[in-house]
Amino acid sequence: MLQGKCVILGVTGGIAAYKAAELLRLLVKSGAEIHVVMTRSAQEFITPLTFQALSGNPVHTELFSLIQEQEIGHISLADRADLILVAPATANLIGKVANGIADDLLTTTIMATRAKVLFAPAMNSNMWENPIYQENHAKLEDLGYHFVEPAYGELACGWQGKGKLPDPQEIFNSARALLGNNDLAGKTVLVTAGPTREEIDPVRFLSNHSSGKMGYAVACAARNRGARVVLISGPVNLHEPKGVETIQVVSAREMHEAVMKMAGQADLIIKAAAVADFRPVVRGDQKVKKGSTETTTIELQRNPDILAELGQQKGSRVLIGFAAETEELLKHAREKLASKNLDMIVANDVTQEGAGFNGDTNIVRFLSADGHVEELPQMTKAEVADLLLDRATALLPQNC
Ligand code: CTP
Repeated sequence: MLQGKCVILGVTGGIAAYKAAELLRLLVKSGAEIHVVMTRSAQEFITPLTFQALSGNPVHTELFSLIQEQEIGHISLADRADLILVAPATANLIGKVANGIADDLLTTTIMATRAKVLFAPAMNSNMWENPIYQENHAKLEDLGYHFVEPAYGELACGWQGKGKLPDPQEIFNSARALLGNNDLAGKTVLVTAGPTREEIDPVRFLSNHSSGKMGYAVACAARNRGARVVLISGPVNLHEPKGVETIQVVSAREMHEAVMKMAGQADLIIKAAAVADFRPVVRGDQKVKKGSTETTTIELQRNPDILAELGQQKGSRVLIGFAAETEELLKHAREKLASKNLDMIVANDVTQEGAGFNGDTNIVRFLSADGHVEELPQMTKAEVADLLLDRATALLPQNC
């Protein structure tokens, strides 16, 4: 994927430094040539040997090391880079670069390069919110430096908030996008994600456990590959991805309407949403009272099958569905693939550990219309998304 590209991976001294090893693994796997530059404090968290072993190249640590300077000095590093990626990037590193301080190998290399620079900041949430940091960050963004936003979650310091280093796959995807894997440039990708909610009354609804993570990962991966992405999302607890046109819906009928409105513009449609098959025939205007009855019945009415409808008017579009099953995975997935006229279906057994709705990983099989089945190991949802797009891109008309 990144064959022939040279990436300088800068590692600074944060607790998330260990995650840079996983990022390095992804970069190496993609075929890029990687040189790691570590700050002095990064070496307090992880040893250069780890990065040397993973990258197959000596790790650069010292600005004034005669041997390192002779072999590949900071100017040479800065010149040969296609991308400088700093992960994790501390508030200190961002502050230094924003203010023109070049007092170690990493900051000097960043200052001397004409390559793109991508920072993946990770820090305590109060540091992240500190106006001094925000000013430095904004200044660098204005100057054309790139950033991967930190994630929300529990931080190593015990605080809950924004500041976590994002998933290495997400950082890798951003790096790859900057390095120009634009194989979906000029294409419109329509993705659906999350559950739908079918209201019983103003306070109750029928729904399912879908978190939307798989669909959002697909939307971000498609955006990173240069596509215009329209994401139609049911109610989830995820942030709207930057650079993605997100349409929020609640019910299956709303999702149906939004999908049908946008489908004509799409080259590729990936339906990861877990759409409720039924809705209550009657939605109470007021909260339904329990009364004295011990049992009750809600009469349900079939919702439109959005994917099946798309399959009937497929045209030259590539259409991919998901099958969430609890038994007879392949049989059910094959039936859906055929009956909905799909090019591919992503089948997963949601009862399997490491797969399913709420986690960050999935275990899936890709079933193609020609009968081919690709069985994949447990992967992050971001990895599944990228692989899915590799297969989908190959199905797009210009690649036939
Ligand atoms: N789907 C849809 N509209 C529906 C139901 C499902 O577009 N009303 C899509 C989903 O987005 C998914 C695929 O169809 O891509 C399969 O969804 P799934 O819930 O696994 O299967 P169903 O077709 O609903 O069949 P069943 O519930 O009987 O397993």
